[in-house]
Amino acid sequence: MSKKHSSSSTVIGIDIGGTGIKGGIIELSTGNMLGERYRIPTPSPSSPHAVARVVKEIVDELMTRPDAPAHDAPVGITFPAIISHGVALSAANVDKSWIDADVDSIFTKELGRDVQVMNDADAAGMAEARYGAGQGVKGTVLLITLGTGIGSAFIHDGILVPNVELGHLEIDGFDAESRASASARERDDLDWDEYAVRLQRYFSHVEFLFSPELFIIGGGISKRSEDYLPKLKLRTKIITAQLKNNAGIVGGALQAAVHFKLTK
Ligand code: BGC
Repeated sequence: MSKKHSSSSTVIGIDIGGTGIKGGIIELSTGNMLGERYRIPTPSPSSPHAVARVVKEIVDELMTRPDAPAHDAPVGITFPAIISHGVALSAANVDKSWIDADVDSIFTKELGRDVQVMNDADAAGMAEARYGAGQGVKGTVLLITLGTGIGSAFIHDGILVPNVELGHLEIDGFDAESRASASARERDDLDWDEYAVRLQRYFSHVEFLFSPELFIIGGGISKRSEDYLPKLKLRTKIITAQLKNNAGIVGGALQAAVHFKLTK
């Protein structure tokens, strides 16, 4: 759907993850979040109906705030799966009933306003390229999120190549995210040295395949980077997301604003 929206300098971004659903009000000119983010745990089972209700609850709460966007402003939503033309084509860490679901229509209907849906890691990558650690970097930047799964965004000269799924590379016979995600660290009760061995294996392989200029680490674990980043030996510079765990929310909001022509 594409209709004219009232002008708005802020847009709501919602980041749907395997463990939490988070939202915030983003100021478009700076990428800053105005006020606190609002988080509700991902319902279990994370069925389309249950997730849509939580997203509505978060949007309703954010709309009561003084910095809320116009009542008809579109909402940017990120989803932890391959998203092609608004439809989910995978569901690694959410309920399998999402596969082939028209995510865009589900949220448009539940919220009663336009939405723009994209992959969560792609959103984080776009936000970092525009406002954060990837600003102005030429060549290939890979943003890798370490969370419930492993997400990836492939950016070349500031342009996103969407739906690159580097969390599902097969390495040593394993789906990479089943060994090197933040949740794999917790599940296997690894200390930082043990986890760094798995990250080293993962990042050396990705580095060999893509020869990026820069790796950016996102996801909740980017807060603990001093515990594992110094242990990694790579040719490529590796740093944490500047927008920290809010990168997905910011990128989702930005993409909605670009899509509905509220910003360039
Ligand atoms: C999914 C990706 C997602 C990542 C992070 C992976 O399991 O396949 O689409 O970006 O988890 O949520």
